[in-house]
Amino acid sequence: MALLRAAFSSLLFSSAFALVQDLDDTFKDSRMEDVWLVDFYAPWCGYCKKLEPVWQEVGAELTRSGSPVRVGKMDATAYSGVASDFGVRGYPTIKLLKGELAYNYKGPRTKDDIIEFANRVAGPAVRSLPSRQMFEHVLKRHSVLFLYVGGESPLKEKYTDVASELIVYTYFFSASEDVLPESVALHELPSVVVFKDGTYFTYDEYEDGSLSSWVNRERFQSYLPIDGFTLYELGETGKLVAIAVTDEKDPTERSGRLKGLIQRVAAEHRDQFNRDFQFGHMDGNDYINSLIMGEVSVPSIIILNTSNEQYFVPAEPVEDLEQLLRFFSSVLDGSAPAFGGDGIFQRIKRVAYDARSTVMSVFRSSPLLGCFLFGLPLGVISLMCYGICTAESDDDTELMKRDGFTDEEEDEGEEEEQQQLTAGAEGEEDEDREKIEQKSMTEKKVD
Ligand SMILES: *[C@@H]1O[C@H](CO)[C@@H](O)[C@H](O)[C@H]1NC(C)=O
Repeated sequence: MALLRAAFSSLLFSSAFALVQDLDDTFKDSRMEDVWLVDFYAPWCGYCKKLEPVWQEVGAELTRSGSPVRVGKMDATAYSGVASDFGVRGYPTIKLLKGELAYNYKGPRTKDDIIEFANRVAGPAVRSLPSRQMFEHVLKRHSVLFLYVGGESPLKEKYTDVASELIVYTYFFSASEDVLPESVALHELPSVVVFKDGTYFTYDEYEDGSLSSWVNRERFQSYLPIDGFTLYELGETGKLVAIAVTDEKDPTERSGRLKGLIQRVAAEHRDQFNRDFQFGHMDGNDYINSLIMGEVSVPSIIILNTSNEQYFVPAEPVEDLEQLLRFFSSVLDGSAPAFGGDGIFQRIKRVAYDARSTVMSVFRSSPLLGCFLFGLPLGVISLMCYGICTAESDDDTELMKRDGFTDEEEDEGEEEEQQQLTAGAEGEEDEDREKIEQKSMTEKKVD
């Protein structure tokens, strides 16, 4: 009877709590049998709090769909040892843990994206496609897909290794040749092929370098709409990102024309530029402006080097394809002037820029709060300055007398002290500014 009750309560326990488990120190030893999706959070972090309800839904959905993935969360500040063993450096960090392997999730923190990631990474790194029908089906579902064609081979082993590492980014399939439609003609077998942009490209060991670097370069459509998040992802390919900054609501066709030109470069001049460039367009210039701490006109073309934060803009507005091609070539051969960068000057500029935007955004969202936050300390400081400059308190003179100042020396001494005090007040103001700057920097880090 007691046994039954214990079994019953454990059943209850698991159905009530299995959706998202609170993990502790013991997790490190007990996790190995299962695949785990874990949110490492800090109780004070705002992004973590935002993630929490999404995380509960992720737990519920994965449990409901019968997924083998177990969902947990760990207070990384309470179990910092465990967290740092898993390489957790910021909050929240989402990881899928599968035996010895740990995969970081860096995508948007929405339920669907996280679940898609969990299902993709938890499954086999290479999925086999047994039929033409299956092939057509996955081709419809994925804008980019990698396919190994052929039997067992050293290339297949390499492909499997690459897949188990890069499954965080994309899907990997394998099939035999007869699964492919007649329109796909491979020169040799085995082959690795990427299907995208309405066509396919075959990996060439001699021209394309290592398989993993090729997959990393080819894992995006060559042209795509870009937002802040995709820009960051595209940067990880190590390519330059060429963007048409456009206004989607522009009634004239100027924006559309630049988009069309970039699209043509992507499609018609792939051989020349695909290796070094990723192409796309971005609606509006707000994001780019804050990135380069300047102003780009709309519509216009900009090329970003996300590895060193440099950017390139054409000397004159781009009118035709020839001009655009010349611009791309000039960036590649180094003759186009680079702007920005990650040098010390740019970093100082970034800190000042972020501090200014923080202050501006506070004022914009609530002018009263802004006045209070920044006006009050300023007011206090100026009052203090005023007080110090005009004060002629008895204590001061007495103090100086005790220190052995004669009447003649007194004036001089007072002046000196005043200077020191005002300098002190200025120092305080600097400190305030520094605090704001520090804050904006930590905010960026948490991001
Ligand atoms: C982009 O930045 C990387 C890293 O600093 C550098 O090696 C590369 O030459 C840059 N590319 C261009 C076109 O400036």
